[in-house]
Amino acid sequence: MQNDTFLRAAMREATPYTPIWVMRQAGRYLPEYNETRRKAGSFLALAKTPELACEVTLQPLRRFALDAAIIFSDILTVPDAMGLGLHFVEGEGPKFANPLRAERDIMALEAPDLEKLRYVFDAISLTRKELKGRVPLIGFSGSPFTLACYMVEGGGSDDFRLLKTMLYSRPDLMHRILATNARAVIEYLNAQIAAGAQAVMIFDTWGGVLADAAFHEFSLAYSKQVLAGITRTSEGRVVPRILFTKGGGAWLEAMAQSGADTLGIDWQTNLGDARRRVGSSVGLQGNLDPMALFAPPEAIEREVERVLRSFGAAPGHVFNLGHGVSQYTPPEHVAALVEAVHSRSLGAHAA
Ligand code: CP3
Repeated sequence: MQNDTFLRAAMREATPYTPIWVMRQAGRYLPEYNETRRKAGSFLALAKTPELACEVTLQPLRRFALDAAIIFSDILTVPDAMGLGLHFVEGEGPKFANPLRAERDIMALEAPDLEKLRYVFDAISLTRKELKGRVPLIGFSGSPFTLACYMVEGGGSDDFRLLKTMLYSRPDLMHRILATNARAVIEYLNAQIAAGAQAVMIFDTWGGVLADAAFHEFSLAYSKQVLAGITRTSEGRVVPRILFTKGGGAWLEAMAQSGADTLGIDWQTNLGDARRRVGSSVGLQGNLDPMALFAPPEAIEREVERVLRSFGAAPGHVFNLGHGVSQYTPPEHVAALVEAVHSRSLGAHAA
């Protein structure tokens, strides 16, 4: 591989500079993405056509010197393959035609037939071929809990009222969904690794909305099951496992014991504090506020410097945003970000 800095940093090994990739790096802030999506007809058609998913995965790498690619897909492909009927309503985000609420439906829920997700694995194999070893390819899944949020609510939510009603009144049903999701996610991630994914990330986007005890019982416990079930090595190399809980700052010590190699950190947590709390047991990925990218390049450079300094001069930092890049971000500002991370970290933690 030409550039394995991301894989090394995610395993806390020394690198000549801090590697960077950006959550949602393939997406609507890039005009070429919008063009390809228009050709595909819809977001889902784009995600379900391996050649087009491969094309948009590679688009940000043509513009920016990113150190990793992430396969273009979505976390909601799994519940879709479970039969919940995913569609996207323009301006409203994802919706499920058959949300999971009735006890009968919950008891009948099963991990999906992986054939229904073949398009994801095909997109991964194709993208690996097209990357020609330039940078590693990251596979991903939602956490069992974050998937359950969408499955029960039937889409996004401001307060997760339906989900929390079930969690507090019928914890047995919630556990049943989570156990099935955990099995599904393990099989899904292992099939992604078999197809060529060289690292995997679990997006626990909504774990942070839970009360302390509920986070441990309904989110982290099932992410742990997944982490324990993921294939450890592929193609003769360890496959780094990244766990990202948005709003998870209160639980970093516990997350560091989860079996993850690197923790994704949102923009509200100081990386230096996070490092002191988790010690050298895990790497950290993050955590520039995505909104900082709306400021001019000089301000972006200043904020990059701040994030790099907060982590300090040690191996084990993968630079990223604290959450996905906004669709309104000027692409030139992402160029400034990548350039600043590389130039300002050079030699900071060489071997
Ligand atoms: O990071 C990447 O470049 C890889 C692609 C990726 C997408 N979704 C593409 C996408 C990844 C890693 C995701 C993960 C995802 N999807 C998460 C977890 C990460 C996070 O943001 O916390 C979640 C919660 C989802 C569910 C989802 N998908 C929502 C809520 C939406 C609509 C909201 C929005 O941004 O419009 C999507 C659609 C989606 N997934 C888009 C993209 C590029 C935009 C759809 C479009 O092109 O119209």
